[in-house]
Amino acid sequence: MHPLQCVLQAQRWGPLASVSWLLFRTCRAQSSVHGTTYPGPGRQQENGVQKDFSSRLAAGPTFQHFLRSALDPQEKPDVEDPPPYLTVDELSGRQRKVYLETYGCQMNVNDTEIAWSVLQKSGYLRTRNLQEADVILLVTCSIREKAEQTIWNRLHQLKALKTKRLRSRVPLRIGILGCMAERLKEEILNREKMVDILAGPDAYRDLPRLLAVAESGQQAANVLLSLDETYADVMPVQTSPSATSAFVSIMRGCDNMCSYCIVPFTRGRERSRPVASILEEVRKLSEQVLQLIHERDNICKQIHLPAQSGSSRVLEAMRRGYSREAYVELVHHIRESIPGVSLSSDFIAGFCGETEEDHLQTVSLLREVQYNMGFLFAYSMRQKTRAYHRLKDDVPEEVKLRRLEELITVFREEATKANMASVGCTQLVLVEGHSKRSATDLCGRNDGNLKVIFPNVEMEDVSNSGVRVRAQPGDYVLVKITSTSSQTLKGHVLCRTTLKDSSAYC
Ligand code: 5AD
Repeated sequence: MHPLQCVLQAQRWGPLASVSWLLFRTCRAQSSVHGTTYPGPGRQQENGVQKDFSSRLAAGPTFQHFLRSALDPQEKPDVEDPPPYLTVDELSGRQRKVYLETYGCQMNVNDTEIAWSVLQKSGYLRTRNLQEADVILLVTCSIREKAEQTIWNRLHQLKALKTKRLRSRVPLRIGILGCMAERLKEEILNREKMVDILAGPDAYRDLPRLLAVAESGQQAANVLLSLDETYADVMPVQTSPSATSAFVSIMRGCDNMCSYCIVPFTRGRERSRPVASILEEVRKLSEQVLQLIHERDNICKQIHLPAQSGSSRVLEAMRRGYSREAYVELVHHIRESIPGVSLSSDFIAGFCGETEEDHLQTVSLLREVQYNMGFLFAYSMRQKTRAYHRLKDDVPEEVKLRRLEELITVFREEATKANMASVGCTQLVLVEGHSKRSATDLCGRNDGNLKVIFPNVEMEDVSNSGVRVRAQPGDYVLVKITSTSSQTLKGHVLCRTTLKDSSAYC
């Protein structure tokens, strides 16, 4: 790569204040790694004639290129122009299979997701089978010596794999990503000649280029640290489809400089990810949760969505961060995503400054949403809260209680209406145990998490036909609903079943 290009690339989106620092780093990296790492534009004709300076300059970045570097990080173009020495085709993954291995901290788990997101966009496929990989990338850790030793050992194993592969198929490419690449830089390339690419924690956008260079048989590295790279526009791809949790990273780097710690040197300066990008990721995760609730029979279709008030004015005083309209929109979205979902909510009656009009707004929200379950409270001022310091608890106690009663009445009416729709239906119920109110009844929960009461009698077991059983806690049973109140459903039990055997009942 042309040195000037390299500097500009490092500076892209970077504040001007950082120019000299990065320039220094870049030149240092260039001079020491040059022999083995970066293919210069004229490198194909190595040992041949070096193009003269002006023609190299012509092939370098244009003024537009430079202007683009001043773009806001959020406006980074999705598709970059290929560098002059690579074609778009060479830059593409062309369905090559990448095997990613993650070591160390949760930040590395997130980095793996970012690296994979970049490569996926570039036309790579993912494999979880080492044997069928065309590219193996280790997302490495430098936190303690032992962490690095683990990677060196792994590299020795991969070396054997690569040597074997050389004879049979297309060459296997091996890359070191993350903190160890950053800390050791060219030392890795020199020590392990079979490592093809190095990418530091701020260089994952460059992975397609580095891999394209590696395809020509040369080692390639980008270990430049950035002052502002947060990968804000790269949505991490959750790497484990069966993962039960997801981490949303909100910052990168560290400025603490604890006297024992390498992190500030491998991950660079502390920088926060833009709030909009964090929110977008959380929104996508929430969408996935809704999708899961919809798809999976073993997850009950109930969502608790505490509204607290139906008045946007009161919601603002409560500092809830949403308006009535936004809340209602969310309710519609959830109902569309999970047909038949059961919704519950919390409400506070008589918050500071709540007028009769505000209260009626809450009444109308209860009617509009028609919750299946509700938890309603009269407001009680709590010391230390913002309301305690800044607002006046000005709704008289008797008014609070009267409003609470009204809310409870309306909630019950609406819940009873909603529950009435279940009468005559056969529902799958997860048995919890004996009913608290009656020794002869059992109690369980339906798919909407509503209580279902039914007599404790012998029933047929669908898994063992002819056998009569009594339901035990943890069993699934089918119950035909015969009556309802606002809080519970009642019915008679038909049989013991399993999640698998019970297809959708209404
Ligand atoms: N007064 C009345 N209700 C409150 N809640 C929380 N704080 C108060 C308060 N000071 C209610 C809210 C919350 C639920 C757990 O308790 O509705 O969602």
